[in-house]
Amino acid sequence: MSEVRVRRVDAVLGAEVEGVDLRALDAASFAAIHRAWLDHQVLLFRNQRLGDGDLVAFSRRFGDLDEAPVQETGQRFVEGMPEIYVVSNVMRDGQPIGSLGSGEAVWHTDMSYLPDPPKASALYALEVPAEGGDTWFCSMYAAWDGLPAALQRRVEALRVKHDGTYNSGGYVRQGVAPTGDPRTSPGTLHPIVTLHPETGRRSLYLGRRRNAYIDGLPLAESDALLDDVWAHATRDALTWRHRWRAGDLVLWDNRCTMHRRDAFDASARRVMHRTQIKGA
Ligand code: SIN
Repeated sequence: MSEVRVRRVDAVLGAEVEGVDLRALDAASFAAIHRAWLDHQVLLFRNQRLGDGDLVAFSRRFGDLDEAPVQETGQRFVEGMPEIYVVSNVMRDGQPIGSLGSGEAVWHTDMSYLPDPPKASALYALEVPAEGGDTWFCSMYAAWDGLPAALQRRVEALRVKHDGTYNSGGYVRQGVAPTGDPRTSPGTLHPIVTLHPETGRRSLYLGRRRNAYIDGLPLAESDALLDDVWAHATRDALTWRHRWRAGDLVLWDNRCTMHRRDAFDASARRVMHRTQIKGA
């Protein structure tokens, strides 16, 4: 076994894993990484040299992979690799090679508008700007634990509609007609409070704020309650900010985290490849 070292970052979630080459992991090293991922929610691996095949192979150790959603232009990403989703602002022949552009990507958990969202995402940095484009993570265990007791009681049995109209960059998803009414927009209802199937811990599950709706409440009441819960859940104290270097792989647990990305200079290049591991 290579010597897997797990070092907590200075935040409520997140750890850096050192001493591993993700292209060559034995069973004991993988078991240590899996344990660390459940314990810390987000893992950072620096200095990796991964081709798309390596990224897919590492991700598959956690379970079956989802096919990547089509990009905002309606095109697929990497020929022959349906699992790879490209996050990039780079243009080729007048077309973006990936999704999300160079603007801010707001707080979200991946694909929560689906009935069975992916349990995990792995994002690998190929090219990064000198500044900007940092990705922030937020612990949804800590968000639940830190919610005032009255608010916990209020939301405990409620379900929230996770809107499928917009992605986190604010772009309309392929094939969807945008509507401003969250009660009728496409999406899925999920309980606001969930039990993590592997750790047994309680967590808030909020998805995205835009077009979210608490089932059964008048719209204004739903908005006020969601604003309150979101303000608690995204406090700086619950977050960790990651400044990317090329060769970083970050793996996160969508069941107990959210993430957002800072904007960056549109003339800089940022190219990231992502996989998603099926939930349930
Ligand atoms: C994402 O939201 O999956 C992408 C995050 C990033 O670009 O850092």
